[in-house]
Amino acid sequence: MNENFKNEVHKGLSSNPKSLPSKYFYDKKGDALFVEIMNLPEYYLTRSELEIFQNKTQELIDSIGVQTDSYFELIELGAGDGTKTKELLRELDKQNYNFDYFPIDISSNALKLLEQDLNTQIPNLRVQTRQGDYFEVLASLKNSKQPKVVLFLGSNIGNMQDQMAFKFIYNLGANLQPGDKILLGVDLIKAKEIVLPAYNDKKGITAKFNLNLLDRINKELGANFNLNHFEHQPEYTEKEGIAKSCIVSTTNQTVEINATGNSYTFAEGEKIHTEISRKYNDQLIENIIANTNFSIQTKILDSKAYFADYILKRD
Ligand SMILES: C[S@@+](CC[C@H](N)C(=O)[O-])C[C@H]1O[C@@H](n2cnc3c(N)ncnc32)[C@H](O)[C@@H]1O
Repeated sequence: MNENFKNEVHKGLSSNPKSLPSKYFYDKKGDALFVEIMNLPEYYLTRSELEIFQNKTQELIDSIGVQTDSYFELIELGAGDGTKTKELLRELDKQNYNFDYFPIDISSNALKLLEQDLNTQIPNLRVQTRQGDYFEVLASLKNSKQPKVVLFLGSNIGNMQDQMAFKFIYNLGANLQPGDKILLGVDLIKAKEIVLPAYNDKKGITAKFNLNLLDRINKELGANFNLNHFEHQPEYTEKEGIAKSCIVSTTNQTVEINATGNSYTFAEGEKIHTEISRKYNDQLIENIIANTNFSIQTKILDSKAYFADYILKRD
């Protein structure tokens, strides 16, 4: 059994308000549901960043400042299915850049699928997968002194509170060397009418994705959540710029989890916070990196200016 999963679930469900970490969305079913989400008409995030990776590939390559005649490591945090990255990888391969690609993901299933896919689509590419929590693998970056480009796409950073995002970038900096780069993909603050449907699609796939977390706890930790008594609830205000996903209990109920040996009570209407998805602007990014050793080198936008890829340079 995954001890971290058990401990974090117990901690989150014993807190007030209750919460569960979003990184546990990604079991085999969660990975597949997220791929479905990325293809939903409402989920503009993937399409917007993919447009940058498809239409501005050379601009991305020029901004990360790599040279065809010197080796570098391309590291991706939370690579998922690599939809957007493949556009960049194909072009780097075509132009004969000398690099290894290190996708890191907490989901071993996602990594396995990605590796198989890359082996067929870009057979020349050297891929070294690393399974684990990206908070824990940061220190291992220090093991090599090769120049590095770290991809952190899909607004994954938005799943962290700002203070946590600062610490994360700060720690990343401590493990990189001057001149190394981060390619940071972030969703930009925009109107509720655009943002909210991305977390509340008509087909109900996001709801399934959110509730799958309870199903995963049932299967892996021996719990008895009745999924008919919980509902997906998304929230977003443009002023705050943070989309939140919750699971709401639709009745007064108690749930037992064998692995923790505890039961947890839920009042009707009580929420479990499962994910935040922060949206950004230049000022927020400046604030987050203010006390780190990174500076913004470039910002690349999609045609609707919904999404930005910032290139941060380690000073
Ligand atoms: C929202 S998906 C985004 C995937 C991809 N970066 C993209 O932009 O399409 C998040 C990915 O990050 C992984 N992930 C989430 N939290 C993680 C963590 N703490 N450590 C490592 N991987 C994580 C998930 O397994 C999933 O594959």
